[in-house]
Amino acid sequence: MKYYFTVPIYYTNGAPHIGHTYTTLVADTLRRYQRLMGNAPSFTTGTDEHGVNVERAARNIGKTPKDFVDTIAQEFRMHWDKLGIQADQFVRTSSEEHQRTVQWMFEQCRKNGFVYKGHYTGAYCVSDNLFATEAKPGEPCPICGRILEAVTEENFFFKLSAFQEKLLDLYEKHPEFIQPDARRNEVMSFVKGGLTDLSITRTGISWGIPVPGEAPHVFYVWFDALIAYLTGAGGSDWQSKGAWPADLHLVGKEIIRFHAVYWPAFLMAAGLPLPKQIWAHGWLLFDNDKMSKTKGNVVRPLPIAEIMGFDALRYYLLREVVFGQDGNFGYEALVTRYNADLANGLGNLASRTLSMIHQYREGRIPESDGDQHVAQLATETVEFVLEAYAKFEFNRALERVWSLISAADKLIVERAPWKLAKDPDSKELLDRTLYSVAEVLRICCGLLTPVMPESIAKIWHQMGFESEADAVEARDLHWGHLPAGQQLRPTAGVFPRLDVKATVEKLIEGELAERRRQDILLGREPKAEDAAPAMAAGPLSPEITIDDFIKVDLRVGKVLEAVNVKGADKLLHMKVDIGEAEPRSIVAGIALAYKPEQLIGRKVVIVANLAPRKLRGLTSQGMIVAASVDGGLPVLAGFNEDIPAGARLK
Ligand code: MSP
Repeated sequence: MKYYFTVPIYYTNGAPHIGHTYTTLVADTLRRYQRLMGNAPSFTTGTDEHGVNVERAARNIGKTPKDFVDTIAQEFRMHWDKLGIQADQFVRTSSEEHQRTVQWMFEQCRKNGFVYKGHYTGAYCVSDNLFATEAKPGEPCPICGRILEAVTEENFFFKLSAFQEKLLDLYEKHPEFIQPDARRNEVMSFVKGGLTDLSITRTGISWGIPVPGEAPHVFYVWFDALIAYLTGAGGSDWQSKGAWPADLHLVGKEIIRFHAVYWPAFLMAAGLPLPKQIWAHGWLLFDNDKMSKTKGNVVRPLPIAEIMGFDALRYYLLREVVFGQDGNFGYEALVTRYNADLANGLGNLASRTLSMIHQYREGRIPESDGDQHVAQLATETVEFVLEAYAKFEFNRALERVWSLISAADKLIVERAPWKLAKDPDSKELLDRTLYSVAEVLRICCGLLTPVMPESIAKIWHQMGFESEADAVEARDLHWGHLPAGQQLRPTAGVFPRLDVKATVEKLIEGELAERRRQDILLGREPKAEDAAPAMAAGPLSPEITIDDFIKVDLRVGKVLEAVNVKGADKLLHMKVDIGEAEPRSIVAGIALAYKPEQLIGRKVVIVANLAPRKLRGLTSQGMIVAASVDGGLPVLAGFNEDIPAGARLK
């Protein structure tokens, strides 16, 4: 059976981070799961390349929009390739194929009477030549700070208001259409609140898909982007490809409305079948804080994959995060879970099992039916896990696999095969024990191949199979399918234990190096300091008087000690001399930009009369002053000439 699904097409304003990677690796897991179930899955991702932001970002670094998006689209492709993610279609919105689909959809909607020309009034920035959708006339432009004006232009509108009842009807008849339920309720109350027509074109932008015969109109944001899912299914020729309608759109929760309201309305207007389901997952937070380029706390996937293997990240995210809810990412938690579940759990079971069979049975799977109670548990596990995957309950699925692993570990401890091997009367019991644990290992591999394809392939190979691990089918996962007599191949550890502190340090170093690589690639490094201040930091804060300023006591500080804060990858804890009897204890979010040893002896600027506050159980008696530009790491303020600690800045 076909199973066509999608993840978002990502904006080309930067290279992928683990947020994009999360959705895409879930899709890859799902694809492999569907294949395991005997279906024919195929999924689309790609890049959302048009719009004024891209035009501007390209201009800032002296590139054409086309060159700029080519570079970033290539980064996305390179990431998915390197990470072994098997996307079937990669749709770029700047491609001709996509342009044809968007224009065709527009014609269908227009022909059916759902598009009309109207006037759009918005908050316009005359300097940037764009409507600032997030602000009102009279407010400062979020980009350059100039006051926005009310401007009216002619646009094409989509009659979204005509779809209110049809959409509500759809949500009621098909409660599974929007998942999880909380999102469905949110969308329903939004639609019940009334829908207004949607402006779907702009005239002030040149980097967009032209509206046929209607220059200078180009399509605007969501009408262009959502249709990429149809482009991936063959565009206007969707019927012959047979993939459409999509079985699933997987998205982050912030774009559920566009997918659950606009998209079905566009499709109904064009007379096309609707997708079966839209699933919105939560956000990945970094150290419990929302990841954002401005905060400089975005984590990139490639260094993690290089240092620990991508499977470690896949496993961590699927095991740790309840799919649908927000979840936390932290380097230390990643390495700790890797050690506990992969090195000590699965990895240990694999190496113990295989080396015992090598040692006691010359590397051949013994002849036995295995233990009934283990067989029973394995059968129940298979049933539970396959169902849990179907419901996107990855964490519960993995938890159950690990219960089975524990049961096999327990059997090994209880039976002590090394003792049985010495006793000729225990031959049958030893055969049974070894068969049981090897069969558990095989079944776990089958269940885990969607989640950790690369590592499972290695264990599978060591188990002596001729076929590939990712060719396993669910129907092979019944007890007793492991053939007696199968010859194992030599074993090698698949999940070596990692030193937590050293690995976290390596990961952070890798992240910094990756940022530098991306900065250079995107032409950001030399431009960063030159960026106009308003560009970097937004509009100025309201005016203050000298009396206001003088209230802030800024002091020269000398860093005496600096250490990383356990469990918080971006925090450093410092002792800073500001000329008082005791040095100050200062906790600052600069660990991604500076290593502790780089700071010792350095003169910095401290806000010395700020009320103390607690961070991660440590008291911070002041704040260190740093600057950052959009997307960049903090850069500490300092001095070119020497000045003693304690001197006041004014
Ligand atoms: N281009 C639009 C989508 C158009 S789809 C027709 C867009 N792009 S985006 O680059 O901002 O990507 C947003 C998506 O990336 C989210 O919906 C989610 O899938 C993923 N994520 C980005 N940051 C994320 C987190 N911090 N956490 C989890 N997923 C995140 O919106």
